[in-house]
Amino acid sequence: MKHYYFAMMLFLAVTLMACEQAAVEIVSTKVEMQENPVGLETAAPRFSWQLVSTHKNVQQETYRIQVARSEQDLKKEENLVWDTGNVPASESVLIPYEGETLASRGEYYWRVKATSNVGESPWSDTGQWSMAFLDDTDWQAEWIGEDVMANPGETDKGNTRLAARYLRKPFKSSQRVQRAVLYIAGLGAYEAYINGERISDDLLAPTVSWFPERVYYNVHDVTSLIQRNDNVLGVKLGNGRFFGMRESITQVFGLPRLLAQLEIEYTDGTTTVITSDESWKVTSNGPVIANNEFDGEEYDARKELTGWKKTGYDDATWKSVDRMSAPMGKLTSQPNPNIKVQDELTPVSITELSDGKYILDMGQNMVGWITINGLQGKSGQPITMRFAETLKPDGTLYMDNLRGAKVTDIYTPAKDGAFNWEPSFVFHGFRFVEIDGLDYQPQPSNFTGKVIYDEMETTGQFESSNETINQLVRNAFWGIRGNYRGMPTDCPQRDERHGWLGDRTTGSFGEAFLFNNALLYSKWLQDIEDSQSPEGSISVVTPRYWTIYNDDVTWPAAYFYGAKMLWHQFGDTRPIKRHYNSMKRYLERVQEVSMQDYILTKDTYGDWCMPPESQELIHSQDPSRKTAGPVLSTTMYYSLLELMTQFATLTGNEQDIEGFEELASKIREAYNEKFFDTETARYDNNTVTANILSLQLGLVPEGRETEVFDNIVQKTEVDFNGHVSTGVLGIQQLMRGLTEHGNVDLAYKIATNRTYPSWGYMFDKGATTIWELWNGDTADPAMNSGNHVMLLGDVLIWLYEDLAGIKNYPGSTAYKKLWMEPKFPDGLSHVNASYDSPYGEISSEWRKENGSFNWNITIPANTSAIVKLPRDLNILIPSEEGVRIVNDSDDYFEFEIGSGSYRFTN
Ligand code: BGC
Repeated sequence: MKHYYFAMMLFLAVTLMACEQAAVEIVSTKVEMQENPVGLETAAPRFSWQLVSTHKNVQQETYRIQVARSEQDLKKEENLVWDTGNVPASESVLIPYEGETLASRGEYYWRVKATSNVGESPWSDTGQWSMAFLDDTDWQAEWIGEDVMANPGETDKGNTRLAARYLRKPFKSSQRVQRAVLYIAGLGAYEAYINGERISDDLLAPTVSWFPERVYYNVHDVTSLIQRNDNVLGVKLGNGRFFGMRESITQVFGLPRLLAQLEIEYTDGTTTVITSDESWKVTSNGPVIANNEFDGEEYDARKELTGWKKTGYDDATWKSVDRMSAPMGKLTSQPNPNIKVQDELTPVSITELSDGKYILDMGQNMVGWITINGLQGKSGQPITMRFAETLKPDGTLYMDNLRGAKVTDIYTPAKDGAFNWEPSFVFHGFRFVEIDGLDYQPQPSNFTGKVIYDEMETTGQFESSNETINQLVRNAFWGIRGNYRGMPTDCPQRDERHGWLGDRTTGSFGEAFLFNNALLYSKWLQDIEDSQSPEGSISVVTPRYWTIYNDDVTWPAAYFYGAKMLWHQFGDTRPIKRHYNSMKRYLERVQEVSMQDYILTKDTYGDWCMPPESQELIHSQDPSRKTAGPVLSTTMYYSLLELMTQFATLTGNEQDIEGFEELASKIREAYNEKFFDTETARYDNNTVTANILSLQLGLVPEGRETEVFDNIVQKTEVDFNGHVSTGVLGIQQLMRGLTEHGNVDLAYKIATNRTYPSWGYMFDKGATTIWELWNGDTADPAMNSGNHVMLLGDVLIWLYEDLAGIKNYPGSTAYKKLWMEPKFPDGLSHVNASYDSPYGEISSEWRKENGSFNWNITIPANTSAIVKLPRDLNILIPSEEGVRIVNDSDDYFEFEIGSGSYRFTN
């Protein structure tokens, strides 16, 4: 009994000790910004982690990373391929691997621990990653497919039409499987199955690319899907962007084709490799009789190939595959996650029209498709679904703004009775769906709206006491996620859906507060480089399915601004290093073809989509409202030179700096000479855009800033009655510019207006996303999407940086050090925001009502912040640990704080 008692006590004591929380712990371990990624291609993957602690004011002092080829080795600290030892450093974001050379296909296990000013952390949980093929000779597979258009009506001309291809390969696996990995590229898009099981829930994979330059493949660990003896690998191929939607305005690169290599390692050390080759079978005589991103998917259930993905299926009627040519581009393991279903909606209403059709209202302009659950169909009687963003006054679909996109999905049942269905290779941008071909009133539960976009985390929340702002954030959230598809697209619905550069120049930065878009944008920068012409031109649509080399500045600026965003927001300097030379080449190219007397003369789109003088117009015709092209190009070019001097320092290209600076100073001088009226302090015709770009991009002669700013305010207040007057260029600087120069109230007014032109006007007209045009309700449908994000300009940045006070300290990146200085516009009493930064979650909630002020902030372990508050708030100086006054002027208090939660109150 006594023994038992002692044993119990001992057990309790040990358990208690084990449970006692360490002062710091390591969480959120990532490699290349992903949890346990599969198939990396980089020779030096980068490690990130976060510290958490119950203490305040925590700083990492050293870290130690260990990497091994097996988990056992890692735990025993044997055969390590990398052991950093204790490295004195406070960074914990994107630390590059510097161990033994990583092996093609290799699997690696890693962990990290840290020491800090409050103690040492235990080892993190074990993380894992694997490598892709590191050598082209690793590929033994051949490109295969069906090299004819075998079905009636199929064409690769005009509005292309083609059925999906089904390919299958039975194979044997005779031993106990240790590991099985599938390396696969299916162009345009594939769905792969092993023994009937889908290998992943990725959609429309692989990610888009400019195929002549680059072809992405995916890597999947499929160990659990391989069974003893008989197996089948089945792949369904859709058209995607490879067999493009319109021969004339996109491109047809060829018929769909597959490259697949399945490598199975057995526990006894032997291996089997199954490759795409001539032994496979193919048919295009299956149920997906057409699939086209613009026009929709047609599914005929009477042609179902029941059991084709499984063993035992008789494929005698299938053909042997054709060998297909390789699509030129470099095979590259895809660095960004694929598209997935990320949300689901149920219709909020179903209305019957007089002709027996039904209209579903999803309650939200969304991007994806409709899944059918248990609708009653009749054999051979098609059910047709068409998609639109809005309705006409008579309750039918408004399709005019979709231009040539037919957006029609058709399902034909094989028998009478209930059926389920969803498409594979399309998506639509819609709020309303018209259902034709039903004999009865369906229920909302018969339909699910699947919301699809690139897999990524939501990073931010923002709420305030102002409903217009709250709706702005909601609409932005839906609009942004609706336009992420391996590239940031202009719109998801009409016959365009392209990666237009100019829409994202500053937008990419604001978007990062809502979504972790790092891997998407760094991949897109690669697309941009892949689009570059030998002369150095950049296509303003990238991947360049439309190849447009304007050699102007404002749209291609997205290349540079995107790289800056990745650096500042995520601490990722690799894109800048990778693209520095191409960026420089672009600047030289533009200088060569467009610069005259230090003015950049070429401009194509102007201050695109500014509010025109008449609400029916798309573009203004009034010269007094339009900003001259050279003003736009020259100011933007100047800002790119400024960025390049920073990039040059970062990449060790200091020798370039002098040249950039010299050119910049000549441009500034020539620009002011030509466009600045020294009397009135107006730029050119005094548009808000001309003045705000000159001011915010640093071209205004020293000492004249206030006058230029006054012109902006005057113009906005008098000529535009406190409304926005800019298009996509001016708006990139407007909200921050007004605030920085002391007029947050005007910025707030613009952000919260409900009258035209404004975001609030869109909402009052029913917008649940952001329109392409300020006058999207009245303008010509020829260019009038309900789901563009470019008019967001810098408003999201302003909400986070200026209203919530969540901002990088000058020179800091990834929010290692913050600058927290919220602004308090009249009329706004409450802001509650959070942002998931690379170091952890930052939150800021303030309330300012009836003389009382209260601000709660949290910044993650291993970060610090400078906090600045106006003196007239009469706040009590917190006497907490971790708070230090660094500046105490007549107008402001400035504190330095360490990590943790703090409260400032009066
Ligand atoms: C696209 C825009 C794009 C613009 C450039 C439009 O058709 O939808 O978003 O930036 O063309 O001219």
